[in-house]
Amino acid sequence: MKSNSSLFCDQVQSQVLGIHPYIPGKPVSELQRELGLETITKLASNENPLGASPKVIDAIKNELSDIARYPDGSAYALKQELTKFLAVNDTQLAIGNGSNEVLELVARVFAGPGDEIIYSQYAFAVYPISTQVVGATGVEVPAKDWGHDLSAMLAAITDKTKIIFIANPNNPTGTFFTQTQWQEFINAVPKHIIVVLDEAYLEYAKSFLDEKRYFDGVDYIEGHNNLLVSRTFSKAYGLASLRIGFLVGNEEVIQYINQMREPFNVNHYAQVAAQVALQDQAFVNEAVLLNQQGMRQITDAIETLGLEYIRSIGNFVCIDCGDKAQHYNQKLLEEGVIVRPVANYGMANYLRVSIGTQVENQYFIDALKKVLQAN
Ligand SMILES: Cc1ncc(COP(=O)(O)O)c(C=O)c1O
Repeated sequence: MKSNSSLFCDQVQSQVLGIHPYIPGKPVSELQRELGLETITKLASNENPLGASPKVIDAIKNELSDIARYPDGSAYALKQELTKFLAVNDTQLAIGNGSNEVLELVARVFAGPGDEIIYSQYAFAVYPISTQVVGATGVEVPAKDWGHDLSAMLAAITDKTKIIFIANPNNPTGTFFTQTQWQEFINAVPKHIIVVLDEAYLEYAKSFLDEKRYFDGVDYIEGHNNLLVSRTFSKAYGLASLRIGFLVGNEEVIQYINQMREPFNVNHYAQVAAQVALQDQAFVNEAVLLNQQGMRQITDAIETLGLEYIRSIGNFVCIDCGDKAQHYNQKLLEEGVIVRPVANYGMANYLRVSIGTQVENQYFIDALKKVLQAN
């Protein structure tokens, strides 16, 4: 007789059995329950430590009476705002329930069993997951100095390649490639292969790079019909809980993505929030500045403590803890600090810490110091 957990095993689509689910950061409430701690510092999910713009909160409150209505499935008002902000047409935009959804939609639209999807070693976990979801074959290209090796990714292209996922900067490593490297890459990719450039941390990245090295993927859409750029409101805009992100690209490609998505995939509050958030760039600038200062605060402290880290231009940094990463993670949890172990990325020696407020960062630094001293 089959055990309860394998009753339907023969009936599920074969690719489902191979999916390694995304491992999220531990929720604050869970740690509070487990350890009976009141104050928890969560630096595990690259969230905005400032929260969201007060203008966004007010706008949502004003819309609460509409809760019983379906959202606008075309996200008309938000798209109008985005067209101004990005200087593209609304037909070049697909809005998703987080950028996570649009990344997966690309895989569902363009790949299936027998096809190959290329991504880098240590790349964001959603790329291999989306590949597994559609039953395609993932081609993981070894990283170079923790970052994407774009030449090696080009060399990995075969006649089965349908999509290439790349992130700039990458999560969890925080590594990036320059404008020159990008231009060489995008010009060399055959025009029938979809390239997804994931710019989830673009706002932060910009603040760490000079003009020569920094670039904005949307500027390359004209002239590259196979390029899709994904962005999110979860990070610098502080809307992670609402789930909203988008894809910019060629009109025809975007139309296929919109055909595939659910009719009401993005809720009304997310649409309103994103629209207002875009208008409040002062808030984004404040978050970016805080992140720059926090990155310095944390990396200076890591150096003082004699640890190594991977240089990052995101709102997070990976710390080399040697073979003690799991142990330090547990001890930090006991101190009420949640960071992210990244062993599931093949980085068993590292812990990723998100940049918080000055006070949260100091709390983490003090806790880490204590853990190291007790070791
Ligand atoms: C590189 C990268 N892309 C995309 C996402 C997805 O973000 P969301 O689905 O919240 O828009 C994340 C989230 O951590 C990320 O790190």
